[in-house]
Amino acid sequence: MPLLSGKSHKFKVAPPKIRIEKVAVENAPKPKPRSIARPGLSSSARSSPIRKLSPNATSSSIASSPAKSSSPYPSSTDERRFEPQRKRKAPTSASRRSPASDRIEFDKDSDAEDDNWMDLDSHKRQRKATSEDSNRTLRSARAYERKDEGLQFIHAVDVASLEHKCAPIMGASKEDVAVELQYPTLQRREKFQLVWGKDKIDTVEASIRIVRLVAGTYLTDAEAEPFTKHDNGIIRRLEKASNRNIQDLAGFKAALRDYNEKLLELVEAGVVSNNLENLHELPSELTDFILDQIYDRTVAPKVELLSKYENGTDFVYGELLHPFITKILVEQAKMTSDQVFVDLGSGVGNVVLQAALEVGCESWGCEMMENACNLAEAQEKEFHARCLLWGIEPGEVHIERGDFRKNALIHDALKRADVILVNNKAFTSQLNDDLIRMFLDLKPGCKIISLKSFVADSKSSHNINDVGSTILEVEECTYPEGFVSWTNAGGQYYISTRK
Ligand SMILES: C[S@@+](CC[C@H](N)C(=O)[O-])C[C@H]1O[C@@H](n2cnc3c(N)ncnc32)[C@H](O)[C@@H]1O
Repeated sequence: MPLLSGKSHKFKVAPPKIRIEKVAVENAPKPKPRSIARPGLSSSARSSPIRKLSPNATSSSIASSPAKSSSPYPSSTDERRFEPQRKRKAPTSASRRSPASDRIEFDKDSDAEDDNWMDLDSHKRQRKATSEDSNRTLRSARAYERKDEGLQFIHAVDVASLEHKCAPIMGASKEDVAVELQYPTLQRREKFQLVWGKDKIDTVEASIRIVRLVAGTYLTDAEAEPFTKHDNGIIRRLEKASNRNIQDLAGFKAALRDYNEKLLELVEAGVVSNNLENLHELPSELTDFILDQIYDRTVAPKVELLSKYENGTDFVYGELLHPFITKILVEQAKMTSDQVFVDLGSGVGNVVLQAALEVGCESWGCEMMENACNLAEAQEKEFHARCLLWGIEPGEVHIERGDFRKNALIHDALKRADVILVNNKAFTSQLNDDLIRMFLDLKPGCKIISLKSFVADSKSSHNINDVGSTILEVEECTYPEGFVSWTNAGGQYYISTRK
């Protein structure tokens, strides 16, 4: 029995005073859709022993690659349809564009050409301060207590290997392709193969990014030196070995082995765990990378399942990308780990997981499309395992199946919610009307972020919208290009505050 009837309801309300503020969102640096760095870590984070480097500022082409991955994305700029055409990812996928032999920007092997190493430092300096959530504990105690021998996760080799018809790279023979990577915890290493396949995980790129992320987030400058040293640090060795002109398989594998050993030593000595104690905010580059790892291993191999919907229905599928979520949850709503987030129509759970990881808050979602629910379940399982691998304690995650109008747990969560997301761009007007009725129960100050406004403009006299304008105060904002999956163009979104 629905908790809320879908039928229209006569509300007796005073004539609305509509207040719509237009707020232009500061133009983000032209987004490479998947990894717009959140501008800034707190000043205390900068002065903490944890050094923050940008893992993107590499002398390889990693950071400069265009959006590319295996998600439902558009290539079109036609906004009338939500079409799952464009690939969803960006920077992790430099080499997905082309085989390893085309990874052209790896070939700076001259020590004189080290512009990007300089960029690492300037990037670090450029970060602006944001308020840090000092109550958040990022460190997962469990990840450092002992190795969980039973920990199940999807290894890269399970989705990208010779068996998946990927081609070996760097001249690797069948016997040579296997490599392993240590994470900054006591947990098992992940198995990879040195192979390349279109839209598959690229081991060379992933390895270099993982080493950069570990060195940049989990270690002090001094501790990270063996990894980051300009001339012969491990990152430099990996880059040189994978350079298009060098292609030194033995050198690459030796550098990875040294990374694994050196990192495990630091983990076993308690260095990494201690550093994490002082970290209260996860850099968005790391958040994005972990979420991309999860998506690549669960959703990407089955992404076509998300395009099975009928246009003009409530099930039209499209995604808000990581930078958009960082913008609204962290920068605009300034969410903290003691708050509650709800995504109504949560698709494969991307935003629910991002809120739990990036903010550390209690995070809820509800989805009724069967295929999306199944993928969300797979993502949630992988999410918990990956958080353990990376040593991070996320917020609680609850993803419900079914119609959010009829789910009692969701209705309870809504009463406690601080921020609600409704990607309602393609919702029918009936569903948007039902949502307004659900918002009657929200606590004052709760923010609803939506792609369509719940308040009619002054020209409209539609009855239900009178309720919207009575209970909500609405700001209209603009998002820049690269923030959503169905078009590269920018657009409008709305932040409504429950009065
Ligand atoms: C555009 S997608 C948004 C996915 C995700 N929130 C995001 O922004 O990336 C909207 C989702 O809402 C779901 N949906 C529509 N009506 C719903 C309802 N009444 N209950 C649960 N989910 C619903 C659709 O199936 C679709 O997956």
